[in-house]
Amino acid sequence: MSAHGTPIPMTSDRAGPLRGTADVPGDKSISHRSLILGAMAVGETKVTGLLEGQDVLDTAKAMQAFGAGVEKRGDTWHVQGVGVGGFAEPDQVIDCGNSGTGVRLIMGAMATTPIAATFTGDASLNKRPMARVTEPLALFGARACGRSGGRLPMTILGARDPLPVRYTTPVPSAQVKSAVLLAGLNAPGETVVIEREATRDHSERMLQGFGATVITEKTEEGHVITLTGQPELKPQTIVVPRDPSSAAFPVCAALIVEGSDVLVPNIGLNPTRAGLFTTLREMGADLTYENERTEGGEPVADLRARFSPDLKGIEVPAERAASMIDEYPVLSVVAAFAEGKTHMPGVKELRVKESDRIDAMATGLRAAGVSVDEGEDWWTVQGRGFGDVPGGVTVQSHLDHRIAMSFLVLGMASNAPMTVDDGGPIATSFPIFEPLMAALGARIQRA
Ligand code: S3P
Repeated sequence: MSAHGTPIPMTSDRAGPLRGTADVPGDKSISHRSLILGAMAVGETKVTGLLEGQDVLDTAKAMQAFGAGVEKRGDTWHVQGVGVGGFAEPDQVIDCGNSGTGVRLIMGAMATTPIAATFTGDASLNKRPMARVTEPLALFGARACGRSGGRLPMTILGARDPLPVRYTTPVPSAQVKSAVLLAGLNAPGETVVIEREATRDHSERMLQGFGATVITEKTEEGHVITLTGQPELKPQTIVVPRDPSSAAFPVCAALIVEGSDVLVPNIGLNPTRAGLFTTLREMGADLTYENERTEGGEPVADLRARFSPDLKGIEVPAERAASMIDEYPVLSVVAAFAEGKTHMPGVKELRVKESDRIDAMATGLRAAGVSVDEGEDWWTVQGRGFGDVPGGVTVQSHLDHRIAMSFLVLGMASNAPMTVDDGGPIATSFPIFEPLMAALGARIQRA
């Protein structure tokens, strides 16, 4: 959907090989956190490389509503922080658009300050479960009142005298972990989050960068993260690395489009995010890491992806799911062009993303001529091998950017074009997707 609510149908078809360099935008997770932590620091944080997708722009607006200064000058975003506990009460409803990360992290950040805020979002976000954050936030003393099933719109009343919390996350979710840690910032003493499976650790790394004390230990219980409350966060200069989840699209397209050779430079390969690339290599993808280095404490490399006609279906280990949770839709497209089955277990969380991603992909893949089996927390794609995926249908993106981009990638290699009913949501995370793919040689047209 466009910003005005009109669907934007998009069609991709087989073009020549994809060649060249793909400069993908900044990391969405790190961009949200830069703005939120910048707003909670004392003084001015400067951010370059920020993802200027709608999700992050909505978080920028929200931080302004809570009293922080957020302004872009030249290429740099300047965030004038109000300090931990310094948020003002917004005088308008906070609209987080399509962004689960935005709303859940901001709820956490304001939950231990005695103010009220009402949150809403688009039709996708207003269906997603919020109890997973409001339950731990209640332990700090915050109160939530929303629609049935813990859905937005929802008002949070922040705790006046917050207590520190010890909380084991019931689902593998970096958003839940981060909401608890951000709430813990304005609670006295130590807030502890325990997660059985490690999820992306950007909040922990960035909190340390801003001067908070955060210790992670691996114990029998799982990963135990301890935050010391009420620090003074020191403003930072942040260079946002590029997003591996966005890199996934040109990388996967190059693997399945004949004759392709694409370089995707400067991609963060934090192990809590890079599971897709490991999986693709296990499938036999010609995917190499060039110029491997460390930047800002994160492993970074240039990815080179070349056409790979002999991909094999594999069993994707369930324990890898958290490190590639956003990449299953596009992996399922690559799996359609592989020989044999790709089985993806341990992925129940896919059912509560911007859409039910198992259902959205399975329905569209089947329409495009690919067999898919599914259960509540697993799915299997029966690969057809290179050159044998029919395509030629219109599928629904369900207000989900990654569903839209995945089917457009499929259309670049299927026998007949693929149309998505609405490519508008792509602007939430990858606003330059169309020109970037076109510059590589892809053909995406708006109807
Ligand atoms: C994110 C965490 C993940 C991911 C989302 C970004 C984050 O969600 O799907 O795109 O920045 O913390 P969950 O925490 O719900 O798994």
